[in-house]
Amino acid sequence: VAKRKRRVIEVEVTQEVQASIDVVQWNYFDAEHLMPVHGGYQSVEILYEDGHNSLTTATVKIPIFKFLRLSTVMFVSMIDQNTQVTYARQLGVWSKTEIVCHRLEVDKTRITMNYQFLLEGWKIGLAPFLRRLIPKWNDQVWKEDLELKLRRQMVTDWGFRDFLGFVNDDAGQQQDQLNKEVRQLILPIRRPSDTPVNQNPLRISTPRRTAVRNL
Ligand SMILES: [Fe+2]
Repeated sequence: VAKRKRRVIEVEVTQEVQASIDVVQWNYFDAEHLMPVHGGYQSVEILYEDGHNSLTTATVKIPIFKFLRLSTVMFVSMIDQNTQVTYARQLGVWSKTEIVCHRLEVDKTRITMNYQFLLEGWKIGLAPFLRRLIPKWNDQVWKEDLELKLRRQMVTDWGFRDFLGFVNDDAGQQQDQLNKEVRQLILPIRRPSDTPVNQNPLRISTPRRTAVRNL
């Protein structure tokens, strides 16, 4: 039996942002912003997550064919403190996205985003189309996320801490010292219990927590 022909389409995009690596990585793991901020997402539910990995279902609109809806499953894993990988399958096509963050300065980060799509059979014909589409789609998503990253960097600099608020007074500074870990990125990200992304009946959450810096 002849092996089915297949071909990998690869596109790599590099960006820099005036935000810390923690802010950049927080943005990637903040599932709650996907629906309100990125026009493409119709629904997002996390099925499973622990300190390293997550499995998420989503319904997305396809760029250009915005009348179409497709459901996808995403597996995301933090493989070292700088690198996350996402495997997803959309319309029968597997994709792998590897995102590497480099700390350039305390509040400056370089991000390399490598997209690979595994095309099989007749779908190999979609290669030129995908090659043009991926950078455009990346650019749109980058712009949608940029404001969130810059705003979080700004409020973090002003003393904002998740679930604590602003900690600028003396008592707050002391508490902030005691809660140093809250300034590190801990996975999974803490969310209010009624968050829409945690409502899937099959959801499992484990007590495992990981500081990304320690990976
Ligand atoms: Fe985003």
